[in-house]
Amino acid sequence: MERFSSVLLVAGLGCFAFAWVVEGWLPLSHLGRIPVKSLDEIAPEPSETFVKLSQMYPEAFEAAFGEPSKESFHDALKLARDVYIGEGCWHCHSQFVRPVSNEDVRFGPVATAAEYQNEMQLPQLFGTRRVGPDLSRSYSKHSADWHVAHFYEPTHVVPTSVMPSYRWFFDENDHPNREGLAMITYVMWLGSWTADWETGGSGEEVASK
Ligand code: HEC
Repeated sequence: MERFSSVLLVAGLGCFAFAWVVEGWLPLSHLGRIPVKSLDEIAPEPSETFVKLSQMYPEAFEAAFGEPSKESFHDALKLARDVYIGEGCWHCHSQFVRPVSNEDVRFGPVATAAEYQNEMQLPQLFGTRRVGPDLSRSYSKHSADWHVAHFYEPTHVVPTSVMPSYRWFFDENDHPNREGLAMITYVMWLGSWTADWETGGSGEEVASK
């Protein structure tokens, strides 16, 4: 009996050591070699959406961000990331396309480790479940107008939606305010900067585009 428990003890410790190597040391030693990118590298200039929003809502935009510049663009992305975390968007949305269940057909190219080594993904925003779709390739899925209507009242554009409305992203004229402009810029930027988005690195058009 005693011998039996020592075998179990050794097996248990062995499994623990194995898990520590495979799930701790191995990823850390690999990720450590991928440089952490700054916003300057992944968002070098204001996106088309950010500039377009400054023309669509000149007064609200000026009050929120002044002119569209690299600095104000970065402010918008960082603010939206913080609101995304604070509002718990990640309870319902993932930012991680898995290599299973034809997810690349639904959402776009499968996620790579290097995508998460940048200051916008610290902490990473993989999410925990998907009540709504994955957002890591949400760039180019909808127009800015669509997002305005959607954040104001999701059921106006998707009648069966269970996403809450975000009225506090809007000012008294129902124009997107600082948070609203930032969030639309953010969701329309996600995925736009990753390599080979259009082709998924395979040279072939991605079906979900
Ligand atoms: C209760 C769950 C829930 C929460 C919280 C939630 N969403 Fe959603 N979201 C959904 C669902 C469901 C859909 C799909 C139906 C629709 O388009 O409204 C969706 C759709 C979307 C889409 C369109 C995606 C596409 O590819 O069509 C965007 C963008 C989005 N959500 C952003 C956000 C952001 C940003 C937040 C936080 C401010 C948020 N959502 C919070 C459930 C949620």
